[in-house]
Amino acid sequence: MSKMLLFTELLIQQKNVTMEMNKKMRAGLLLVLFAGVFCACSGNVGKIEVEGALKSCEQKMKQTLSQLETDSCLLPRSMSLKDSLWSLVSVYDWTSGFWPGILWYGYETSCDAFIKENAVHYTACMEQLLEPQYSGDHDLGFQFLCSFVNAYRLTGEEHYKQAALDGADKLAKLYHPVVGTICSWPYMKQQKGWPHNTIIDNMMNLELLFWASKNGGNPSYYDMAEKHARVTMKNHFREDYTCYHVAVYDTVSGELIKGVTNQGAYDESFWARGQAWAIYGYTMVYRETKNKEFLNFAEHVADVYLEHLPDDYVPYWDFYAPNIPDEPKDASAAAVVASALLELSQLETDSLKSQKYFLEAERMLCSLLSDKYWAGVTSPAFLLHSTGNYPAGYEIDAAINYADYYCMEALVRYKKIKENS
Ligand code: GLY
Repeated sequence: MSKMLLFTELLIQQKNVTMEMNKKMRAGLLLVLFAGVFCACSGNVGKIEVEGALKSCEQKMKQTLSQLETDSCLLPRSMSLKDSLWSLVSVYDWTSGFWPGILWYGYETSCDAFIKENAVHYTACMEQLLEPQYSGDHDLGFQFLCSFVNAYRLTGEEHYKQAALDGADKLAKLYHPVVGTICSWPYMKQQKGWPHNTIIDNMMNLELLFWASKNGGNPSYYDMAEKHARVTMKNHFREDYTCYHVAVYDTVSGELIKGVTNQGAYDESFWARGQAWAIYGYTMVYRETKNKEFLNFAEHVADVYLEHLPDDYVPYWDFYAPNIPDEPKDASAAAVVASALLELSQLETDSLKSQKYFLEAERMLCSLLSDKYWAGVTSPAFLLHSTGNYPAGYEIDAAINYADYYCMEALVRYKKIKENS
């Protein structure tokens, strides 16, 4: 709390205005910050105050920046809800791209030079991932999309484009032509004896391959990404469209050996974030291919998720966790799905479906922006109550950077839809 107030003071001093104006500004700023609720929910249909929420995101980004060492390449990943201090990771952590990605969205919505300066700095840090001795895993997609692809989208600078293309080349090296998917975790061959594994999260990272194929990279990456999506559609899902976390494949026949979990409650469970990655992933694949088969599939994987949601639109970490309602929630899954459904609503040509997915996304966003999930002024994070890895016992009921990234993305998408309607 005291740190936040000190930070508020600093902001006001930097503006170099008169004492009288300082008082008024501080009162106004604190009002915005203390409100902390950007959706007035009524009968589950909310009116989202998107500008207020984005302003709060910008304040929180600056609060985080005030906690970080200047010129360091350590990035904020998550925090326990007890102390409001970020745990920091290196660029090699799978979540490293989300912090520069948050800053790029912050720059997009605010045009703030200080936020841009930091987005540039943390994106430059990510270049270490291009060192030849680092081969990486499927997370290269998250890492390069959030940082370099956003940087290129907003600045048009060629070096960002080149870095993203180089990242895509590294990701494509993990593709197995017999199986027809990317090997998500190459080290699991040794650790678990799996010949080839693909996790549902990997659907997100196909976007880097699609992006590269249309931005001067190898055109065959389009086919690679489409094939991965098709093979995953065939093997990764149960009849009711819920998905396994991990599919293990035989590299000689290319056939599925088994579906298992790593982060879900058990192999046949319904891990919330896994399904969220699938909803976002197939929506994105439809955007890129315009193939209605993928649209149809995105609708099915979204509908089963929606059917299982609790009243507040934020799932428990696993829909089949044994002690519901006494299980932690996963706000990160809700943020990913809100962003995905906003996109799905815009891709739909059927107006009833479009309206349905938009309203569901709005309800999710509204819940995330309520005081139950939106972190108050004492925290520099945006969202409370995410679950990272329950079986491994970490980041349970925590604030996590990817929840914030997809929440910010959802807010930006929501704002654009509202402006164009
Ligand atoms: N991609 C890792 C996770 O969702 O936890």
